[in-house]
Amino acid sequence: MLNNEKLHSYIESLFPDRNPLFSEMENYASEHHVPIMELAGIETMLQLLRIHRSSRILEVGTAIGYSALRMAAALPEAKIVTIERDIERIQTAKEYIQRSGRAEQITLIEGDALLVEDAVRSHGPFDAIFIDAAKGQYKKFFELYATYLKAEGMVITDNVLFKGLVAEAEIESKRIRNLVKKIDEFNQWLMNHPEYDSVILPVGDGIAISTKKR
Ligand SMILES: C[S@@+](CC[C@H](N)C(=O)[O-])C[C@H]1O[C@@H](n2cnc3c(N)ncnc32)[C@H](O)[C@@H]1O
Repeated sequence: MLNNEKLHSYIESLFPDRNPLFSEMENYASEHHVPIMELAGIETMLQLLRIHRSSRILEVGTAIGYSALRMAAALPEAKIVTIERDIERIQTAKEYIQRSGRAEQITLIEGDALLVEDAVRSHGPFDAIFIDAAKGQYKKFFELYATYLKAEGMVITDNVLFKGLVAEAEIESKRIRNLVKKIDEFNQWLMNHPEYDSVILPVGDGIAISTKKR
């Protein structure tokens, strides 16, 4: 089992430094407790998107725009549509997107992802969908937006291992226990979905990669 703290730190140390704006965003997220994607997770996702040559990407859960801007920088030809409902984060994301010089690549849709389907529809279909919002609603996000996925499309879902808690037999907090149960139910549903091939990678907080079956 190649999954330990030392190795994790070693891998993270090998990633090249991000540009100053991304470092600033990472610091902002850390200081303001904004849960942006973990480094190993995002680097893995970016590499998958490069291999896949995704050019139209839908993201559910913008936060401050970190992953959207990382995708835009990694795939300069790509257009990213990203959804966020938190007003303060929307404002911060807008500021970072303006400062990045990549505003033309990114469309930020404001509102609850389960209620903005009409606004999203006109931007589809998508090569890739990245789900990184309320963990208890992953199945709903997946079912709603997979409709707008191209035949060769890929869905990436973050936090499916939820700090390893999905493999814990006993969890004290009832709230966390319920959330873990929902994530586990999503994982079981996804891995047995008749229309998708999926795999879960134990990087970052656990990412699931799903592609439509041929
Ligand atoms: C984990 S953060 C996203 C991090 C971002 N993808 C990144 O890595 O930079 C999840 C975000 O999803 C937003 N969110 C949660 N549920 C949502 C929903 N139903 N509709 C829209 N946004 C939602 C939260 O407000 C939060 O900012």
